[in-house]
Amino acid sequence: MFSDRVPRELAANPLTQAVAELTRAGRRFVDLTETNPTRAGFDYPGDLLAPLADPRALAYAPSPIGLASARAAVAADYARRGLDVSSDRIVLTASTSDAYSMLFKLLADAGDEVLVPRPSYPLFEPLTRLDLVSARPYDLDIHGGWTIDIASVERAMTPRTRVLLVVSPNNPTGSFVRADELDHLAELCAARGIAIVADEVFADYELEAGAARRAMRAATRSDVLTFALGGLSKSAGLPQVKLGWIAVGGPDRLAREAIERLEHVCDAYLAVSTPVQIAAAALMARGALLRDQIARRVAANYATIKTMIDAAPSVRVLHSDGGWSAVLQVPSLVPEEQLVLDLLTIDEVLVHPGYFFDFPRESFLIVSLLPPPAAFASGVDRVLRHVECSVSRS
Ligand SMILES: Cc1ncc(COP(=O)(O)O)c(C=O)c1O
Repeated sequence: MFSDRVPRELAANPLTQAVAELTRAGRRFVDLTETNPTRAGFDYPGDLLAPLADPRALAYAPSPIGLASARAAVAADYARRGLDVSSDRIVLTASTSDAYSMLFKLLADAGDEVLVPRPSYPLFEPLTRLDLVSARPYDLDIHGGWTIDIASVERAMTPRTRVLLVVSPNNPTGSFVRADELDHLAELCAARGIAIVADEVFADYELEAGAARRAMRAATRSDVLTFALGGLSKSAGLPQVKLGWIAVGGPDRLAREAIERLEHVCDAYLAVSTPVQIAAAALMARGALLRDQIARRVAANYATIKTMIDAAPSVRVLHSDGGWSAVLQVPSLVPEEQLVLDLLTIDEVLVHPGYFFDFPRESFLIVSLLPPPAAFASGVDRVLRHVECSVSRS
């Protein structure tokens, strides 16, 4: 009855089941997996979304890749980050996930392949599967900082590879794609007719000063077809508003052809609401308030965890250049899954195991840097104490 695009088994994983049980039993825990900014104690002014009530939105005049005013607002947002991107090269989407789906439809046929970084965002597997393409991993290596294993990218390429996906900064490793890495990848992709999709949703959140400016600039490339992704979800802390975008880079003719075809794809869905398009410029301006709060919070929590780790000699916090997460490396005394279940049920702190993000080996724990500072410090303290106690007992 049902397609293979959706999983046969929809059963929750053991960690999700344990969370549900604890919640049912009314037990409280510190949630260090919270990445929803609207639940992390930030100050959202009550009238923040007032621009959505603009009466101009009472008229429906659909424009498949977005109203000119909204696309100009996105171009202005690139200018804020020092990037010169023309509004002609902007396509609006309802979210980054929506952008991925539009791009897979544009670039790949059923059975084609998309190269995805490992470790990275766990949604790539379901997103590709839902569009009948398959995700093939290439590796990020850790030695001090994270770098792209270019040889693994080359090994993963086959005649069916249509897209190389990069995430900058990556979730959860926090590594920006460096300019020299992108040069190398661009050369490989241009020679094979592969497009680059660069997910830059966390690009506003630097943990290492200057990291974003030193990073690659996908949208302004002229040598290879590129699609840079962004959205209000992270850049303005407004995931509920549903506005994302694609900035198309590459040789002029190819970029133009891509945009014409994206227009065809988007026209079939018209997914971006009129009120959000009319409000785009105002929401971006207002979103700076949230962006500043979030940026200060993640930087402060990252500094806190780096300090706290001094008291836990068995735990290492991996260096991060940006984003909303920190990665802890801990001794492999028990499997990661057991460790996160113990942390939840015994110490009442919820963290994600590295294997959720496809880390190639154990043991890594991923913590969100969004929670309020006191909760964050208390949660990290529980994790560190648990690990140090286990080490001393072993
Ligand atoms: C790398 C990455 N891309 C995209 C998203 C989701 O963005 P959106 O809410 O715009 O779909 C996330 C959310 O965590 C993410 O980690």
